[in-house]
Amino acid sequence: QSVAVLGAPFSRGQKRGGVEHGPKVIRDAGLIDRLSGLDYSVHDFGDLNFRHLEKDEPYMDVKFPRNVGGANKMLSSAVSRAIGAGHTLIMLGGDHSLAIGSVSGHAQQCPDLCLIWVDAHADVNTPMTSPSGNLHGQPVAFMLKELQDKMPDIPGFSWTKPFLSSRDLVYIGLRDVDPGEHHILKNLGIQYFTMRDIDRLGIQRVMEVTFDHLLSRKQRPIHLSFDIDAFDPSLAPATGTPVNGGLTYREGIYITEEIHNTGLLSVMDLVEVNPVLGANPEAVEATASLAVDVIASALGQTREGAHVSIVEIP
Ligand code: ARG
Ligand code: MN
Ligand code: MN
Ligand code: MN
Repeated sequence: QSVAVLGAPFSRGQKRGGVEHGPKVIRDAGLIDRLSGLDYSVHDFGDLNFRHLEKDEPYMDVKFPRNVGGANKMLSSAVSRAIGAGHTLIMLGGDHSLAIGSVSGHAQQCPDLCLIWVDAHADVNTPMTSPSGNLHGQPVAFMLKELQDKMPDIPGFSWTKPFLSSRDLVYIGLRDVDPGEHHILKNLGIQYFTMRDIDRLGIQRVMEVTFDHLLSRKQRPIHLSFDIDAFDPSLAPATGTPVNGGLTYREGIYITEEIHNTGLLSVMDLVEVNPVLGANPEAVEATASLAVDVIASALGQTREGAHVSIVEIP
């Protein structure tokens, strides 16, 4: 059992500085020690070194297309290599545009993967529906085969093409969905659970239906893309687009415990931790240590405790 950790210090999928420091604050909150304590061999691959392109005019309303495209191309091959080498991978962002590279690199090795997107946002805007022009609100649109003819040729993205069917995706935690995104969710019949659905059904039932939807026909690798803003801002204040009414600590941990229990987690993204946006050092530490907790839980840290059985030799 080996886990690889890869940092992606990148922020051009949105306009606020600081989210590129996510990998550092999550590591400083003790990630590597926590994972080593879970009986994995942990391989810290360090951080990718993204090249910054000075000349990067907006395409339509889309900001920094060449920087986002180039970073994701590099990330995609790094993820593909790590999965090919047999690791379970934790990708530390960085903003959520990085999911384009992370999920596509994963899909190169595991074409039958399914995607669980835990987020306040659906991140499925196309350049035409995006209210902000920020690519961190658009990554899923780059992945979905059903949106192929809705996506223009954006400079920086010629290396990738859609690879995911909308039925292989489930959202959990939604509470800030743009009109164009809502149209896409409904039109494609995507399985999603808003915070209201969690209120109605409870998180236990939500996870049951999620696995039923994704895994009942066959077991396959899971890509978990976890945006820290899925949590309530009282728990995860240091993030760029906080939305009130988010996941409780217990709901978030229950999601990752259940994903661990499938035995199918293959890649997890943890994105949108922005230390510059914490009101004070405590707010940043709380957000980063929550990120460590949710990663450790996805990798098998339990609330009930565990012990190693010792086989007695007669
Ligand atoms: N829906 C908004 C947009 O398209 C916000 C997206 C926020 N995304 C995120 N990864 N935090 O700009
Ligand atoms: Mn900085
Ligand atoms: Mn979000
Ligand atoms: Mn997101």
